[in-house]
Amino acid sequence: MQDNNKILQENNGFKKLLHPNLSNFTNKHHLWTQFRNSFLTPRFLFPLVIRDQDYDDILNNNSKTSVRWLINRFMSKIFWFWPRIIDAAVWADSSDTAHYDPSYYLEFDSCAKLLVDNVDAYASGYDARILDLGCNIGRHLHALHSRGYNNLVGVDAMPAALQRFKDEFSIVAASCELHHDLFQRFLSKQTGRSLDILFTRGATIELVHPSFNIVKHMCDVTRGHVVLVIHETNQKFSCFYTQEFARHGFVLVKALRPVSQTLESDVNNPASLLVYQRGDLVL
Ligand SMILES: C[S@@+](CC[C@H](N)C(=O)[O-])C[C@H]1O[C@@H](n2cnc3c(N)ncnc32)[C@H](O)[C@@H]1O
Repeated sequence: MQDNNKILQENNGFKKLLHPNLSNFTNKHHLWTQFRNSFLTPRFLFPLVIRDQDYDDILNNNSKTSVRWLINRFMSKIFWFWPRIIDAAVWADSSDTAHYDPSYYLEFDSCAKLLVDNVDAYASGYDARILDLGCNIGRHLHALHSRGYNNLVGVDAMPAALQRFKDEFSIVAASCELHHDLFQRFLSKQTGRSLDILFTRGATIELVHPSFNIVKHMCDVTRGHVVLVIHETNQKFSCFYTQEFARHGFVLVKALRPVSQTLESDVNNPASLLVYQRGDLVL
């Protein structure tokens, strides 16, 4: 069946989507959520409230009963801005009843190819240090490794995914630097601009409560480009990403909204491809 939104027209060598559905970008509810997340959420509280032990508890599926933990849970029920990392618990769950199955992220679909093509396009060389934030089973890192990249890093909270990564793509996993951690702690621990490219395919950064300034931390560790395929508008913690990246010295150099306009086999994918470049990058 022909979808009127998907009529493609050749125009001066470019495929042009006649009617991309961009209504999410003007939806008042989404705009309010993004505004609140980007501009009304205090970020100084996070390091004062969240401790190392909290990360370990989430990653080790420990039941949490300390008074401090209970107070923080209580505060986060009352104050939407109160720092929390509890949203990662469902991903870090290693029990038999875990909600998420890494098999879902095994397929190298057309969106995965689009993402990897763009990382490839912006990488300065095969030894570029490239991080996949939320690598899961490693489908994107595997593809980059196959193209010759040899300085790859992955981080994810889901132990079952990292184990499947080692089983499915053992050679790649052995040559990558893999971290079982939350984005928040992993990024906070990095020193200097150690990455050439940071990329992610969401929902990943949109799952991080805005009390943690994830965009700032991503910018702090990246000397070149940040390549995102994310849900810019319609996740609970979506932000005004382009303004946030600009605030930390990164400029939007490429945007494909939505990605589905070039993915004929993924016509309902509402995610955006966004590439940010450090403003003072010398190429
Ligand atoms: C929707 S999946 C996407 C997986 C992968 N990017 C892909 O497309 O194949 C989200 C991933 O982010 C990870 N994740 C979510 N929140 C996280 C957090 N705070 N810290 C570390 N990993 C997290 C999950 O474990 C999961 O692997």
